[in-house]
Amino acid sequence: MGNNLHKVNKILNSEKYKEYIKKNNECEMDREFCKHDINHFLDVARIAYIISLEKGLNYSKEVIYAIAILHDIGRWMQYEKGIPHEEASYILAQDLLKEVGFSEGEENLILQAILSHRKDGEDELNSIIYKSDKLSRKCFACNAEVKCNWSEDKKNFNIVY
Ligand SMILES: [Fe+2]
Ligand SMILES: [Fe+2]
Repeated sequence: MGNNLHKVNKILNSEKYKEYIKKNNECEMDREFCKHDINHFLDVARIAYIISLEKGLNYSKEVIYAIAILHDIGRWMQYEKGIPHEEASYILAQDLLKEVGFSEGEENLILQAILSHRKDGEDELNSIIYKSDKLSRKCFACNAEVKCNWSEDKKNFNIVY
């Protein structure tokens, strides 16, 4: 209850989760564009939670953090097997969420948000995650900014959170 992130911490400290983080890091060792590492995941978690609080919404902190730490966890499978990473992350998250203690409703919410994180949609939580994912990118401090194919109006030259 309340503010603790007990279930999220269980995932973060699990052997499987650590293995996938390592695989993402290995696949992106030479990547000059945005990485899909634990820093990105925590940026998304914190931004999404701030947005939710600012809007006076009632999403569980732990559900938001769970989505954020899992949304790109299968990125390595996109590199290795060409599976779109929202699908890969959805599959890996199903397993990682098992027996962590989320209710069935929360689990479904988390999994749906992972699966739809690459497109902005009608759903409020989906939209918060989508925005946070984009806002987390630090284009103003990026060495590869000029080469990046994000449109100029999408790039973050100012911080919002
Ligand atoms: Fe992603
Ligand atoms: Fe992401």
